[in-house]
Amino acid sequence: MAGRAALALGAFCVSIASVCAQSSTSSSATDSTTSYRAIFTVPAEADASVPLIPNIYDSNATNAQDACPGYTASNVQRTAYGLTASLSLAGPACNAYGTDIDSLNLTVEYQSEDRLHVEIVPTYVGESNSSWYILPDALVQKPTIDADANITLDSDLNFVWSNDPTFSFQIIRQSTGDVLFDTTGAKLVFENQFIEFSSALPENYNLYGLGEVIHGLRMGNNLTRTFWAADVGDPIDYNIYGDHSFYLDTRYYEKNETTGNLTYAPNATDATGSYVSYSHGVYMRNSHGQEVLMRPSNITWRTLGGSIDLYFYAGPTQDKVTKAYQNSAIGLPAMQQYFTFGYHQCRWGYSNWTVVQQVVDEFKNFGIPTDIDYMNQYRDFDNDQGRFGYVEGAQFLSQLHQNGQHYIPIVDSAIYVPNPENASDAYPIFNRGNDSDAFMLNPDGSLYIGEVWPGYTVFPDWIGAVLNGTGAFDWWSNEMVTWHQNVSFDGIWIDMSEVSSFCVGSCGSNNLTLNPVHPGFGLPGEPGNVIYGYPEGFNVTNATEYASAQAGSSSQASAASATAAPPPTTSTTYLRTTPTPGVRAIEYPPYVINNVQGALDVHAVSPNATHHGGTQEYDYHNLFGTQILNATYHALLNVFPGKRPFIIGRSTFAGSGKWSGHWGGDNTSLWAYMYFSISQALSFSLFGIPMFGVDTCGFNGNTDEELCNRWMQLSAFFPFYRNHNTLSAISQEPYRWASVAEATKTAMNIRYSLLPYIYTTFYLAHSTGSTVMRALSWEFPNDPTLAAVDTQFMFGDSLMITPVLAQGATSVGGVFPGVGSGEIWYDWYSQTAVSAGPGENITIDAPLGHIPVYVRGGSVLPTQEPGYTTRDSRANPWGLIAATNMEGSASGQLYIDDGESVVQNATLWVEFSLTNSALYASARGLYNDTKPLANITILGVPSNVTSVTLNGATLSSGWTYNSTSKVLDIKGLTNSTSAGAWVSDWVLKWM
Ligand SMILES: *[C@@H]1O[C@H](CO)[C@@H](O)[C@H](O)[C@H]1NC(C)=O
Ligand SMILES: *[C@@H]1O[C@H](CO)[C@@H](O)[C@H](O)[C@H]1NC(C)=O
Repeated sequence: MAGRAALALGAFCVSIASVCAQSSTSSSATDSTTSYRAIFTVPAEADASVPLIPNIYDSNATNAQDACPGYTASNVQRTAYGLTASLSLAGPACNAYGTDIDSLNLTVEYQSEDRLHVEIVPTYVGESNSSWYILPDALVQKPTIDADANITLDSDLNFVWSNDPTFSFQIIRQSTGDVLFDTTGAKLVFENQFIEFSSALPENYNLYGLGEVIHGLRMGNNLTRTFWAADVGDPIDYNIYGDHSFYLDTRYYEKNETTGNLTYAPNATDATGSYVSYSHGVYMRNSHGQEVLMRPSNITWRTLGGSIDLYFYAGPTQDKVTKAYQNSAIGLPAMQQYFTFGYHQCRWGYSNWTVVQQVVDEFKNFGIPTDIDYMNQYRDFDNDQGRFGYVEGAQFLSQLHQNGQHYIPIVDSAIYVPNPENASDAYPIFNRGNDSDAFMLNPDGSLYIGEVWPGYTVFPDWIGAVLNGTGAFDWWSNEMVTWHQNVSFDGIWIDMSEVSSFCVGSCGSNNLTLNPVHPGFGLPGEPGNVIYGYPEGFNVTNATEYASAQAGSSSQASAASATAAPPPTTSTTYLRTTPTPGVRAIEYPPYVINNVQGALDVHAVSPNATHHGGTQEYDYHNLFGTQILNATYHALLNVFPGKRPFIIGRSTFAGSGKWSGHWGGDNTSLWAYMYFSISQALSFSLFGIPMFGVDTCGFNGNTDEELCNRWMQLSAFFPFYRNHNTLSAISQEPYRWASVAEATKTAMNIRYSLLPYIYTTFYLAHSTGSTVMRALSWEFPNDPTLAAVDTQFMFGDSLMITPVLAQGATSVGGVFPGVGSGEIWYDWYSQTAVSAGPGENITIDAPLGHIPVYVRGGSVLPTQEPGYTTRDSRANPWGLIAATNMEGSASGQLYIDDGESVVQNATLWVEFSLTNSALYASARGLYNDTKPLANITILGVPSNVTSVTLNGATLSSGWTYNSTSKVLDIKGLTNSTSAGAWVSDWVLKWM
């Protein structure tokens, strides 16, 4: 029950801010002053709500399965694509956690060859007096029947239903006879504030997804996932920023080689047997607060409203499920600009342009590449002229851009409301929004004013804008265009979008004269909130510093307890809301989800905040984060017409990937969070948000040299590569320690060499829905021992990363999947094939500064010589690394475009194939690329090479063959390819 304690560590990422007191507390290497302007501090109690006991922990809570009658199906009608039926309450209403809805419509649609839709909605939606709710398509895309659905009669999924004893249904995979989803024996409960349904699952099932959560990749069978977007610093297993009610279910079977029969194999422990796997996906299109309860033999959904809108994806592979989910339901991920794959440096606490300039210079001194990334102030779209003046900024940014570097400021989700009695506090950005009806309201129609970083704030009303045409989107776009005229940023980082507010209810509505205010908790580094935390093992590696941090921490703790209010005497009087027929209790719904913050109104805009048009936050809370990304995406298209918007957002929902990337939020400088970053990234691959990375070296707490060393290397193999740090923690730019600088350069050298491979892989994700970071179990679906592996991963289909994740380790255990069926893996550094047995956990030497990376046999990787920036790298000659497989062949691709336009005039697609000692390159497309080919490295050439030809012409020099490593290394191709590596097709042969 960690949540509340984590509150104070909430979620701020801004450093440099305008007139707000908070900003002056910033301290970094060059700005260690800690001053504290006395302004009104909102009392901590302002963010406390009524005590609630989550239903899953409430032994006295009604079990709806015992109390409720279920439904009976009637009037079953066949339709062109499936069936419809009426469901009516099979007994007296139970009204367990709301008002039972006595009549429902069931719709079943075979929407495409591999997608089945099951929907249950109230029959009388839209009648006056009705509080029933259907999620509008305008807010969350709704999959529809494919144009060719009527000709695809060979769906592998089959819907069957029963009324015995009450309505239930099953989804069966016809090819295996396996029941994928089965509500038999569990009653359907459908009330205005509570829906429950449940499916049986097989023993030891493998589910993935159901985020956002800090958890291992495989969910396990004893976890309750709560969906309620929360501003909270990454507590394990709780609800955090985003909501994705989608899971992948992978089932392994042992195949009898003679009969072909499949036997479910839940406990297979060997990698060598004859196993196969089948995967399917389930998407629940519902945006309400909800819970998914995973238990040993079943899975249960409980939502606080909406409808049942389920989509089953047949697969049978992860790749097919993920592609179908993206193509039908959430959209393909936004293509990113080339520069965004560079390294991003950022922190809360770079206190003015000069400090930022120094950081940029230090990177240069250490030769560490960076695309600088750094944020703005507490008041959106308004710089503090004292520290981040427009004139000085224009000079700085112009130089930065000339260097091929970029600037990504943070933008918060809430908008400052000025003190009406203080003329010098004017903030026209607020006034313009208010004039456009761009902000949420109280139920009485006045402005809903909560509290965030700048003081009392309003919150953009995206919902009113989408559903009722009010002005939030246009206002947001205009403000961004105007701001860009003063600050030439290159992308936007959206924060606090759950949407966070530091007080319960509209606490600012009557308090504006107190503005600006200080939050009801200490900022990092303020008295009482000094950061003493260090990574695990710091006591061993740095005993003296650790002891002094411990001493500081204890005295801070005892000072806090001396002044703390006495603990409450009555401890367990919980509010329990009894349903009133026909009335919705939206602030304290009768069913209490296990929200990390407690009640729904804590540390978030309250459920009773009202949109223009009259709808309430209760029904839309989880969509704020995705709609601000929608608004920002379209705003950036106005700022940069024709260019791909670059956005990193915090709160996401199904569909956010088509606009934005995501970072892992406010993690902590601990080894555990480095480990969890892999699972979080892989889950976001399933959610269609491949542009993912975490705060490398850790956000909250102090990092240390060893953790930062390992983490800078690991994150180099995530699509979004960024180091970010909280206010007042020790500095953690990679040049702060010589060993970290070296380790970073090593990993970045690989990353920047591979930018063409990364960009091509990302382009394939954008154009087909494939993934960038991949679990081993997705690439090797027939090995049941990989089902839970989340300590190693694939970066695209050709690279495997086996990072060190433990303090003090100098080696790491890793498996080499597929070797039992002939897969070959090459060590990136030695370029030689690894020798490993099937399922064998090999101990890999990995001293500090070394990250094990393997190239999969059968791959051709396009490379470029790394430069200081992505722009420089992109101008360098090409290279290829080809790694042969068991048959001596390999293949790969390269995608080239202008790196920034949404619509391309011309692109180039190059296919590589290696077979029978010949490597072919053949291209199509009209993008004109004239950089030569510098080198080709071929791994796994079995026998001595005596001659090499390019298009039949003998290369008399410039190549070597190493008979020990089996590497054929060809350099000096620049002259023969001086017109451009891909201007004409070529073949390279060796014998
Ligand atoms: C459950 O009810 C019993 C009997 O009324 C009471 O003693 C107990 O405190 C209740 N438990 C909770 C968690 O409210
Ligand atoms: C439910 O079905 C009935 C016809 O069977 C139809 O009149 C009604 O509009 C449907 N309700 C919804 C919400 O689609």
